[in-house]
Amino acid sequence: MDVLVTGGTGRLGQRLVGPLREAGHGVKQMSRRGTGPGGVRGDLSSGFDLRAALAGAELVVHAASDPQGDPWQVDVAGTRRLVEAVDRDRLRHLVYVSIVGVDRIPYGYYRAKFAAEQVLLASGLPVTLLRVTQFHDFVDFLLDSARKGPVLPVPMGWRVQPVDVGDVAQHVVDVVGRPATGGVVEYGGPEELAVADLARAWAAARAPGAHVVATPVPGKLGSAFRDGAAVPAGGEKGRRTYAEHLQH
Ligand SMILES: NC(=O)c1ccc[n+]([C@@H]2O[C@H](COP(=O)([O-])OP(=O)(O)OC[C@H]3O[C@@H](n4cnc5c(N)ncnc54)[C@H](OP(=O)(O)O)[C@@H]3O)[C@@H](O)[C@H]2O)c1
Repeated sequence: MDVLVTGGTGRLGQRLVGPLREAGHGVKQMSRRGTGPGGVRGDLSSGFDLRAALAGAELVVHAASDPQGDPWQVDVAGTRRLVEAVDRDRLRHLVYVSIVGVDRIPYGYYRAKFAAEQVLLASGLPVTLLRVTQFHDFVDFLLDSARKGPVLPVPMGWRVQPVDVGDVAQHVVDVVGRPATGGVVEYGGPEELAVADLARAWAAARAPGAHVVATPVPGKLGSAFRDGAAVPAGGEKGRRTYAEHLQH
């Protein structure tokens, strides 16, 4: 089938192209500059080039996002623009890549992702909302950013279940090839971990000498992560562990 991947230049988007082609699909990768093999331009915040990018697409994997910028403009209003631009006669399935806990964790970016999910549920399109946990590479980035010299402060008691981006990419290819569920499905890594344990493993492999200090985080955000709101309640799991990821 003809597949359009939004966020084609992102962490996940780049990893989707190979497995989608191996599954026999024709793939276009959308981003603002349209770079890369099969790259097409399309801007969710302005709507420029969206209709051309989506023309003929039978499957859409919507993996574009702007967490550091304006997610209400890109993720929410941008998803509305995407819904208006899709080729309704051709579209068979749209998979939206969301995050486990967007409905329960009081965090601005997650609220925007949840609002984008509602746009899709109300669209009348054949959609599946695929909520995924944090990617291993993203965890590395967060821990590296949190380190202050020899000290690595992390939230006390937070529970996560990170996943390998390659496993996610393979799963997205499976999901987009199935019929739309019209609702939420979850996907996470093989094991649930306390953030402090994760950080100790990362420090041992990537920042020897760094000392992990677990710090209480008060408020509703902290209690949501402690209560396991970021951990999938069900769904399929990836195979690669965080420890395996750290070996490479
Ligand atoms: N990272 C994680 O750990 C994680 C975990 C669970 C779920 N997710 C979800 O998975 C999806 C992919 O995450 P990621 O980490 O791969 O994202 P990413 O690396 O931050 O990539 C974001 C992508 O969105 C595109 N983009 C940004 N603004 C845009 C705009 N105005 N118009 C069109 N495209 C735009 C970027 O393309 P250009 O900048 O090249 O235009 C880029 O390809 C996101 O929806 C995210 O919420 C991520």
